[in-house]
Amino acid sequence: MLKIENLHASVEDKNILKGINLEVKPGEVHAIMGPNGSGKSTLSSVVAGKEEYEVTDGKIFFNGEDIEELAAEERAHKGIFLSFQYPVEIPGVSVTNFIKTAINESRKAKGLEDMPAKDMLKLIREKSELLEIDRKFLSRSLNEGFSGGEKKRNEIFQMAMLEPKLAILDETDSGLDIDALRIVANGVNKLKSKDNAVVVITHYQRLLDYIVPDFVHVLHNGRIVKSGGKELAHELEERGYDWIKEEAANA
Ligand SMILES: Nc1ncnc2c1ncn2[C@@H]1O[C@H](COP(=O)(O)OP(=O)(O)OP(=O)(O)O)[C@@H](O)[C@H]1O
Ligand SMILES: [Mg+2]
Repeated sequence: MLKIENLHASVEDKNILKGINLEVKPGEVHAIMGPNGSGKSTLSSVVAGKEEYEVTDGKIFFNGEDIEELAAEERAHKGIFLSFQYPVEIPGVSVTNFIKTAINESRKAKGLEDMPAKDMLKLIREKSELLEIDRKFLSRSLNEGFSGGEKKRNEIFQMAMLEPKLAILDETDSGLDIDALRIVANGVNKLKSKDNAVVVITHYQRLLDYIVPDFVHVLHNGRIVKSGGKELAHELEERGYDWIKEEAANA
């Protein structure tokens, strides 16, 4: 599904990613961990196609297609979802209306008509029940005065509605409390299937107790310096990152 080869990327002429190789297959959950500033958010932004980031070498394939030339919006229409893609507050636009527009834009890009209102309502009802989101929340203005947990809830709701093939959840600096961790984890677990994949970026081993990853990767200084199974996250929790930095320096 996602194949990253020797990816180098820079922002404002500063090299951040220095040769990332990563393959994510359908049905897999990957966790990316690593010290602050190692390039985790940069990696997700580059995959999602944010403009400030420049790919200086290497390739990103999504379902076999080189996506370098595609704008962020086109990548989203192809099924790549990045959390906090729409962090803006939009007074007067409700959570539901925003997602309706997003869905219909994506359908338009595929040459489809708007989703009939009846189907849209059914989908909204289905997904909000699945995620235990109440009606009042759905009619609130997007992100206006949302708490951290409510932002998470909205993000997971957007993900559920858009049914992306690849979801990248960057949980890094969002200050998740234990409830928000559960919202994210339950959402991901309920939406997981053999056809989609999730990349979760986190500092919290605890999140990985709820969303059990198939692979854990450690990013350090713009490279993946170690990969393993879920036990690697436990090892990091116990031992920190210094031993990994040393290993990387001696490699
Ligand atoms: N838009 C930007 N402008 C300038 N520097 C940037 C920009 N985005 C990222 N960087 C720099 O790139 C490096 C990697 O940042 P990044 O946000 O990818 O790290 P991270 O691994 O996500 O860290 P954290 O765990 O703190 O979220 C940092 O030194 C950061 O300052
Ligand atoms: Mg980050």
